[in-house]
Amino acid sequence: MKRTKINALLRLDQSPGDVLVKGWVRTKRDSKEFSFMEINDGSCLTNIQAIADKGLANYAEIGALTTGSSVSVSGTLVESPGKGQKWEIKAREIEIINLAPDSYPLQKKRHSDEFLRTIAHLRPRTNKFGAAFRLRSEMAYAVHKFYKEKGFRYLTTPLITGSDCEGAGEMFRVTSLDPETVQKMGKMDFSLDFFGRESNLTVSGQLSAEMFALALGDVYSFGPTFRAENSNTSRHVAEFWMLEPEMAFCDLNGNMDHGEELVKYLTRHAVEECAEDLSLFQNFVDKTLTDRLDILLNSEFARITYTEAVDILKKSGQRFEFPVEYGTDLQSEHERFLAETYCKKPVFLTDYPKGIKPFYMRVNEDGKTVAAVDLLVPGIGELIGGSQREERLDVLEDRMKKMNLPLKNYWWYLDSRKYGSVPHAGFGMGFERFLMMITGIGNIRDVIPFPRTPGSIDF
Ligand code: 4AD
Ligand code: MG
Repeated sequence: MKRTKINALLRLDQSPGDVLVKGWVRTKRDSKEFSFMEINDGSCLTNIQAIADKGLANYAEIGALTTGSSVSVSGTLVESPGKGQKWEIKAREIEIINLAPDSYPLQKKRHSDEFLRTIAHLRPRTNKFGAAFRLRSEMAYAVHKFYKEKGFRYLTTPLITGSDCEGAGEMFRVTSLDPETVQKMGKMDFSLDFFGRESNLTVSGQLSAEMFALALGDVYSFGPTFRAENSNTSRHVAEFWMLEPEMAFCDLNGNMDHGEELVKYLTRHAVEECAEDLSLFQNFVDKTLTDRLDILLNSEFARITYTEAVDILKKSGQRFEFPVEYGTDLQSEHERFLAETYCKKPVFLTDYPKGIKPFYMRVNEDGKTVAAVDLLVPGIGELIGGSQREERLDVLEDRMKKMNLPLKNYWWYLDSRKYGSVPHAGFGMGFERFLMMITGIGNIRDVIPFPRTPGSIDF
């Protein structure tokens, strides 16, 4: 007989009679005549109850089943007299696949997120992390669905790169030379290295995506990204997934319209397709979740300029740890004030001073600011960072020279401005930050399967 997943069983209106379910024992309790066990197979939050009566040949072994053990249960699917469950299985046969010893760390009690991080290989077996990672999977699907519906092409950009997109000096080096050889060299000679040049793990696929937007029109890349930022915050990891749409014939307003549409689409998909898992987050993680998702879905995101934001912050009367000064980057406390306290909804911040932004952003008419945009969200801070790109070859070259970038390494990038350059724009959305937003999970380490952070590379 073929195994049925629990989520499929729960959708049935009528019992098919016999079923076969395989999964892990969550809890078990015994009466004189029966053994009741809750089985979960990871397909959904809900367990199915299996009932073994003492007539079963291996009843003694069933009685000794422990939490975490794996079993195969065949029997009849019957309507459950119990409250809160539609079906249960009257077992005819329970095969014990593996008996978990009592040392199984996930005994039935609530564990702290900190503890569960130390057993990241087992935590997806808990209700909360099972829900988080099912949701992660569903959201990745929704990303592709959204872009397919909008006619965008999916692009996979290289993870190893010879160029620095963001210029923030946060790259991981890629080399095939062993440390001893490098030590003997005295000074690193990149010409002897694998690629014959300095190479790094990518911090963004944007530069590649721009080349393809100028060929295919609308593209998006969605994949891993690496940052060697030494910041141990609840919002940064060294390896994360970034979604990067890039659109030809698009300006900053079009870019913001797109970001708002994307966030709303993905959120709606979560609400409609992942209701059961979301209910866990609402009940056990963040009581304000439903209200927050409602704001995401139904409010028009605010749009203000950096200059206006600085003004708002200065006049706020709020005491910040870091002072607000025009020309400096906003700190997360400032970003959160703007989104949470001032706007009380997501806000696009635009037109930052060019001195604090990368070379590729389009210089505005004022000559002082660039067509940058960040989307700041209550509870999260920066979710999206992007810009309209500098499409004017002379302005771009000038800016790159002033920033001391090696123009010759970017010859191919500059070519795109030489041949058929057009206004274009795009952004990057941190996939984990998005997941934090729609689950209420407060630490980025808990929405990524095996987090990579400074000093930690377990699992
Ligand atoms: O704002 P960022 O640095 O933008 C770029 O890299 C652009 N080149 C993207 C583009 O225009 N195509 O990063 C984009 C987003 C941030 O808003 C944030 O959500 C996320 O990526 N992000 C991180 N997420 C987790 N851990 C980190 N260390 C992150 N750094 C950025
Ligand atoms: Mg940014």
